[in-house]
Amino acid sequence: MKRVTIRVPATTANLGPGFDAFGCALSLYTDVTFEETEEGLEITGCDEEFTGPDNLAYVSYCAALATMSEELRGIKIHIDSQIPVCRGLGSSAALLVAGAMGANVLRGNKLSTQGLLNITNAMEGHPDNLAPAFYGGLTASMVDNGLPVCVNFPLHPDWEFLALVPDFTLPTTVARQALPTEYDRADAVYNIAHGALVLKALELGDEKLLRNAMQDRIHQPYRKKMISDYDKIESLIRTTGAAFCLSGAGPTLLCITRNPGLEEKLARKIHDITEANWQMLPLHVEFQGARVISQE
Ligand code: HSE
Repeated sequence: MKRVTIRVPATTANLGPGFDAFGCALSLYTDVTFEETEEGLEITGCDEEFTGPDNLAYVSYCAALATMSEELRGIKIHIDSQIPVCRGLGSSAALLVAGAMGANVLRGNKLSTQGLLNITNAMEGHPDNLAPAFYGGLTASMVDNGLPVCVNFPLHPDWEFLALVPDFTLPTTVARQALPTEYDRADAVYNIAHGALVLKALELGDEKLLRNAMQDRIHQPYRKKMISDYDKIESLIRTTGAAFCLSGAGPTLLCITRNPGLEEKLARKIHDITEANWQMLPLHVEFQGARVISQE
């Protein structure tokens, strides 16, 4: 029976003003092994509640098989994930990417990466986590006529990322429900301008420009109310000079800096000012997207 293991990086979406458009792959990983069997479905390596047919890796695996007009046979799926679940670091996108890629590899690589992106975007609804998960690095994406179009952007090599991950979850569906359905023109203009400058600042390695540009009027002002400690942590990070944003839909908060030692600087203070328990994860950019790490 054929077997493949797919490794997918964590991703941070939005990067402040780039709501549903910008994303970046980070150095945490989900490995998913797919092994074809005679019949049935067996899922291991995750909480019992995710071991049924609505598991995202399996749903995506089935969708890719259907697109290829391939027969669904039995499958064993084992998930080994470092990515915190439901925290805004792309754990769901990683499973969707792994499922589609796993099916594609097991059935002869009939689909291109763009084809896999199309399938997974139809399930996720926005490509900002999926694009960096597939392609690695920094990406910006648009959806045109229902299909995602994604490009990589250059990134200065000296950036360091520090993810602050709380001990509570915030489901993306809940975080999206908190957003307005209409915005003022001034807010739209604000985000377009800030978004363009975020990309340039990330390319140049300009921390001051990034700090100023990484502000948003589309999602963060509405979501921060659901994240205890947000204002206190933002104020603390602003004293360090690092750029700051919500990671994806939250609740993880992301700091981006070129100055080493941010973790040590924050560690001494963060526990004194916060109510929740915040874990600090120092990360770097992952320039390689989803890939096969073993195949039999
Ligand atoms: N762009 C998405 C959002 C990312 O902010 O809701 C989370 O899936």
